[in-house]
Amino acid sequence: MRDKLNKIKDDFLAGLEKVKDKQALFGLEKKYLGRRGELATILRGLASLGEAERKDIGGLANEIKREFQGRISAFRSRLENQESGREFIDVTSPGRKVEGGHLHPVTLVRNDLEDLFSSMGFMVLDGPELESDFYNFTALNIPPYHPARDTQDTFYVDLPGRDNAGELVMRTHTSPMQVRAMRKYGAPLRCIVPGRVFRAEATDAVHEHTFEQMEGLMVGENISLANLIAVMKKLIAGIFKREIETRVRPGYFPFVEPGIELDIKCTICGGRGCPACKHGGWLELLPAGMVHPKVLAYGNIDPEKYSGFAFGLGLTRMAMMRYGIDDIRLFNSGDLRFLEQF
Ligand code: PHE
Repeated sequence: MRDKLNKIKDDFLAGLEKVKDKQALFGLEKKYLGRRGELATILRGLASLGEAERKDIGGLANEIKREFQGRISAFRSRLENQESGREFIDVTSPGRKVEGGHLHPVTLVRNDLEDLFSSMGFMVLDGPELESDFYNFTALNIPPYHPARDTQDTFYVDLPGRDNAGELVMRTHTSPMQVRAMRKYGAPLRCIVPGRVFRAEATDAVHEHTFEQMEGLMVGENISLANLIAVMKKLIAGIFKREIETRVRPGYFPFVEPGIELDIKCTICGGRGCPACKHGGWLELLPAGMVHPKVLAYGNIDPEKYSGFAFGLGLTRMAMMRYGIDDIRLFNSGDLRFLEQF
């Protein structure tokens, strides 16, 4: 019985689609709702059913009947409106909402920094994510078997059909673009390179296998550590939109000499000590240094004539600090509840 009713409903709806004029609508009404119509026949037959089934089928049949009546009268008034040429448009009904997309939090930080560095005359460059072992390590003064390679374990990629085992790596940092840019543009040179980098990490709240960095490089005559620190302070003010206290410590990277680490006063506790700064009051923010003469030479730039500085900003890390995000895994999660907040 239920099936039969559903079938009647489907037939009715299909029939209604084909209706073009009042005449046809009347025919349809008669066929389904008339005294000898399909529904009437079923309702009449209810008497022979048991109590429970009568209730069930009767309820459904009446519900369908009401639906048919509603649809037919709506259709009729539409036909009438069309005939009299006064189709009704309700200009007061609310419009359909257009859902806007959101820029990813890392993109927001990157856009701000690209604007800032463009204003200081830096080019914005892009580099390959699948990089050669040479640019990722060797040209940065990290020859094969240098222990610094262990600190940046990554994904080595073999292309099928090519004997290139160990030649290609998913780049572990944006630094390989230093030598690429020097070779392409020569000195003097100012550029930043935002982009994705990869490490073979066991992931947790602060480690990811895929994250974003932004390399900065400036090469010219008489470029000094003072220039580096001035630019880094601009960078920090640009991100946090206010003056923030900084300190400089020595740091080691094979491709800079001297190498430094720039720390900022913890933005969360103001330096008093909290879990975010591991109770030290300072946050490690920016590794940097003066470009090593060997790296300049790999870039075909004369280290006797030119000097330069480089820094490697963790863009993902910066977004975490700016927006107070406490788990790095959220960035690549694709979770809309996270992304829609920006
Ligand atoms: N490439 C380094 C890293 O990812 C950071 C860095 C860049 C250090 C430039 C010094 C100069 O760890």
